[in-house]
Amino acid sequence: MNSEVLVGTVRFPTPLLLASGFITETPEFFLRAQPLGCAGIVTRSLKEHVPPERSRIPAPRYAVHAQKSMLNCEWGNELPWRTWLEHGTGEVQAVGAPIIISLSGRDPEGCARLMQAFDEIGVDAFEVNVSCSHSGALHGNLNVDLDHLRTLMGVIRPATRTPLWIKLSYSTHVVAMGHLAEELGADALVCTNSIGPGMLIDTGTTRPQVGIQGGGGGLTGEAIFPIALWCVHQLANAVRIPIVGTGGIATGDHVIQMLMAGASAVELYTAPALLGPRVFRTIMRQLGDFMRDHPEYRSIAALTGRTAPHTTEHSFSSPVPRVIEEKCTGCTLCVESCAFGAIDMIARSSDRALAVINDACISCNACVGACPPRWGAIVAEFGET
Ligand SMILES: Cc1cc2nc3c(=O)[nH]c(=O)nc-3n(C[C@H](O)[C@H](O)[C@H](O)COP(=O)(O)O)c2cc1C
Repeated sequence: MNSEVLVGTVRFPTPLLLASGFITETPEFFLRAQPLGCAGIVTRSLKEHVPPERSRIPAPRYAVHAQKSMLNCEWGNELPWRTWLEHGTGEVQAVGAPIIISLSGRDPEGCARLMQAFDEIGVDAFEVNVSCSHSGALHGNLNVDLDHLRTLMGVIRPATRTPLWIKLSYSTHVVAMGHLAEELGADALVCTNSIGPGMLIDTGTTRPQVGIQGGGGGLTGEAIFPIALWCVHQLANAVRIPIVGTGGIATGDHVIQMLMAGASAVELYTAPALLGPRVFRTIMRQLGDFMRDHPEYRSIAALTGRTAPHTTEHSFSSPVPRVIEEKCTGCTLCVESCAFGAIDMIARSSDRALAVINDACISCNACVGACPPRWGAIVAEFGET
């Protein structure tokens, strides 16, 4: 499988990168993930000075949520940024992997000074974070602040010739922010960061499940995948610079969807954080299976942007459910889920029964969702309705 991708001038042997966060505070996790298919690392977002009141991260820091998702209330590096300059970068470069230094975009001058320091040792790209959702709620929401982005780009673009990626998150301003970043010299966009803030409460103690003042945390993981995908697709339609898709990716199918939506590469955080580095091996195997089944795509890079032609008009073709007889146990969950009485049961001589989908079906596919995944007895197939 030809899995090499380019993000502008930066070349990666696979499309999978490890996104910025606690697990990229040091290179260790990445060094375990790299042999399994993770092509590059984005460091924890580094700040020149961590204000004393932000030197400790409130706890609990994380709350695991349904569907391999979580809330977090982290807000940046705990180890001094020099740790990456003096040790971490060299350890990543020693295994021949690209390294992207993530920097907080809140302090433009501090950000520019860190760029100059890292440029002395040479790194592959800078990813500047203007999109942390829970920090935004406490300290000002940079993710929608066009004026701040203009000021930031005015300071950091002249400070470095290294590829400059700007990391955005979902908002109604995402396209305007992407446009402005491109116009002011960004080489790529990364989207999304955590989305939110959101909230979870421990009903036993009545306390919020993350410890930050206000009780809100950034939502990440599979729960945000559709929103992240939408943002990537919107940006891909709006800008010419490459996009790195991030948010909720946990399977090969998610990666393929991100590429088809317009991403040139992807970053993962929550899935490897919850499942461990082995998720990269699983995803690479799933990508290999897809490429083998679809020889029309000669490379992974050829998947980028495939969906755009299908979104210019409404579509009227809808997946129609079909029951796989051998798998159906006759549990009737699908019958209960159907709001239209579109599923009939046919008694069998055995104790099983088969669901039959009749003319009342409007292809809502509630029955597909109702059928337990371990049986997978109803599939949705495309056909004209
Ligand atoms: C615990 C945690 C810490 C994070 N820290 C950072 C950070 O320092 N800088 C940053 O740009 N993004 C940070 N993120 C966001 C991730 O890099 C990523 O954009 C987001 O989690 C969406 O991807 P995912 O759904 O695969 O996790 C953090 C996410 C989590 C869960």
